[in-house]
Amino acid sequence: MSGRAATARLTPSTGSPHARILSVGSHLPEQVVTNEEICQFIDSSDEWIRSRSGVVTRHRAAPDESVVDMAEAACLVALERAGLQGSDIDAVLVATLTHPYQTPSAAAKLTDRLGATPAAAVDLSAACAGFCYGVSMACDMIRGGSARHVLVVGSEKLSDFVDPTDRGTAFLFGDGAGAVVVGPSDTPAIGPTVWGSDGSQWDALSSRSSWVEYRDQERAVWPALQMAGQTVFRWAVWDISPVARKALDAAGIAPADLAAFVPHQANSRIIDAMVKQLKLPPEVAVARDISDHGNTSAASVPIALDRILSEGLAPSGGLALLIGFGAGLVYAAQVVELP
Ligand code: COA
Repeated sequence: MSGRAATARLTPSTGSPHARILSVGSHLPEQVVTNEEICQFIDSSDEWIRSRSGVVTRHRAAPDESVVDMAEAACLVALERAGLQGSDIDAVLVATLTHPYQTPSAAAKLTDRLGATPAAAVDLSAACAGFCYGVSMACDMIRGGSARHVLVVGSEKLSDFVDPTDRGTAFLFGDGAGAVVVGPSDTPAIGPTVWGSDGSQWDALSSRSSWVEYRDQERAVWPALQMAGQTVFRWAVWDISPVARKALDAAGIAPADLAAFVPHQANSRIIDAMVKQLKLPPEVAVARDISDHGNTSAASVPIALDRILSEGLAPSGGLALLIGFGAGLVYAAQVVELP
């Protein structure tokens, strides 16, 4: 046996009893792309895209507008609404699948830009569920005492990673960013997160090659996203709706207690199916901003959340069910009190 048995006691980490979303902000790039423009590269139609996915337009970032630029714009709005500055932030979690550097993280650059250095900074790779993963982690960090204020950001430049000639994905995705500040609370305002993964379906939605294959293969293709649309659709409708129901149960509330349902904006038909399966009363505001913004992956929930609040469709202090799901396959859902 070697080493000494510990005699000194470690200082216990103590945080706030609870956490809450203090504010939300979002940013959409200027350029708006119509279905007609998408159909210049694929054999499709405005009517087909609208009826099968719900997308009417999506925003596209300028060539020099990065994931970090969009994240910064969203964070500045969220910080201002929270009455905080970058220097008040202890940790920055950026959910993204389109930051084009293997390393360093988008979060480290963003943290510096916001004047939040030396806050902890890390990117989360949980695709379209990344934002809801981040909310869960921020909540636990605040309650555990490792941070007091956390920025949770979803930022995506999917236009860099979607093949405009791929009929299965070209029409679906958009660019944008959304962010929330999560901070301490005296009362519970972020319910228990119900989350998980199913890696047996790793291939259902993935990059079509790895970076190493892209480097080594003779006829290598850019690692754009590829998707088994129907597989993902069925999974979302049949396996993910029960996750939403479990998040309500875990929070101890009924569908009628909700002011808003803010699901990942994957496809309007998936949203419709979830609303039906959850038996949401018509008074519950349902985020349906996929029509204007497309599927912005990790950014879709905070962008939709910001919109629902800005348009006065749900009140501050009301309860909202958030759910994200996507490549992995991974998912996360929680009920939150609206800022
Ligand atoms: N435009 C026009 N027709 C198209 C098309 C397009 N872009 N893509 C496929 N089609 C055609 C197919 O050729 C097929 O024609 P056929 O019946 O004559 O053979 C028909 O439409 C159905 O094809 P399918 O691939 O089964 O389409 P779908 O009804 O499943 O719709 C999606 C495709 C992508 C809209 C749908 O599968 C979907 O939304 N999946 C989930 C995607 C998602 O949520 N992803 C993100 C998760 S984070």
